[in-house]
Amino acid sequence: MPPQGSCTVIVGCQWGDEGKGKIVDVLAEDVDIVARYQGGANAGHTVHVGEDEFILHQIPSGVLHAGKRCLLGNGVVLDIRQFFDEYDALLDRGIDLDGRVGVSRRAQLLLPYHRLLDKAVESAAATKIGTTGRGIGPAYEDKAGRRGLRVADLGNPERLHKRIAAAQERVTRRLEQLGSGATGALDVAMEEALSLGERLLSIATDTGQEITAALKAGKRVLLEGAQGTALDLDHGTYPFVTSSNTTAASAATGTGIGPTSIDAVVGVVKAYTTRVGEGPLPTAFEPEMDEHVRALGGEFGATTGRPRRCGWFDSVLARHAAQVNGLTGIAVTKLDVLDTLSTLEIATAYRMPDGSITEDFPADTWSLSGVEPIYETLPGWEAPTGDVRRLEDLPANARGYLDRIEELSGAPVQWVSVGTKRRQIIPVG
Ligand code: IMP
Repeated sequence: MPPQGSCTVIVGCQWGDEGKGKIVDVLAEDVDIVARYQGGANAGHTVHVGEDEFILHQIPSGVLHAGKRCLLGNGVVLDIRQFFDEYDALLDRGIDLDGRVGVSRRAQLLLPYHRLLDKAVESAAATKIGTTGRGIGPAYEDKAGRRGLRVADLGNPERLHKRIAAAQERVTRRLEQLGSGATGALDVAMEEALSLGERLLSIATDTGQEITAALKAGKRVLLEGAQGTALDLDHGTYPFVTSSNTTAASAATGTGIGPTSIDAVVGVVKAYTTRVGEGPLPTAFEPEMDEHVRALGGEFGATTGRPRRCGWFDSVLARHAAQVNGLTGIAVTKLDVLDTLSTLEIATAYRMPDGSITEDFPADTWSLSGVEPIYETLPGWEAPTGDVRRLEDLPANARGYLDRIEELSGAPVQWVSVGTKRRQIIPVG
């Protein structure tokens, strides 16, 4: 259990889909507030409670624990329509949300035209990113371009409509330029989204103030990241990244607290590697193994349903993640997926296209496509781990594998997840 008055960041250390939703859900039991700090409906956090499966795109995974306060910080690009669809679906499934969900007044609004632009830009682009099509890039472009609309703007209809009219004009021109005629349903979609403005304002808050006051009062807070370190706008495989800073420092700016309020940063790593969308994956499996592990791990995108590419654990990336996030601990997920493999590989370094060897994650993404990982082979454990609840009860080879992940990453393993259920978790130390 985290100490009183503490603030922990949960961050993905690979290309997203590490199982952050499950880890946040497990840790949320012992905290008072869970807050999302960046991203939008591109995220898909899958959580299993009993026999029920929940896929959350914008509302923090802590929402499935009764009584916890769940916040969306200013760093989020909030898709109003999608947000209330998700909110209402939770209500329909009997989740009591009364007074439990708050949205930053400073959060950017992701509006229907952002989705249209995302799809049009992607289909016209020479270098495709393989986005989720949820409008994320265009919404963050508007934010950085100081053209965006924020939750607080919903309170001033006159100003709002002026700015929206300007945006629609701009967007229509851009869509025409891109050869996309998809503006037909735009007015209806905008009206639908904006009709929810009052409802959104009724749950608007100042997330920075709320979290700071909660910490002062001795409460525990989790800050939940979306996507992963390799998708970070600065530290990831640019340009094959998302349009926000996914890494831990962004948890402070994305919620409105100071960096000194953060006490711990837990990095979530899958026991192997996966990636959706375009861009290099240095430790990618050969096709047969790729299909095998995808089937074992159910590796299909929670937001788009796309098959994820799979590969061996990459400690070069894990070390990079430990450094840029300042990890104080690691949660290893999906260890059970590897139960049947007779041997395992871990990448410890890369042979670069020029023949040199590096243990550092290269800044030049294009060279990353041509690297050859240098692997260390470890014996598999070939035994089921799904029912194990204590580290000492894991097969020796599974413990050996975790030890190696810890040594190579440079951060201690604190949790090991061995299945989708809440109870399938091993606390370490
Ligand atoms: P965008 O965030 O929709 O702009 O997509 C940019 C890249 O990030 C694409 O490669 C997406 O597949 C990837 N991506 C975005 N969100 C997630 C996520 O939650 N999990 C995994 N990949 C993601």
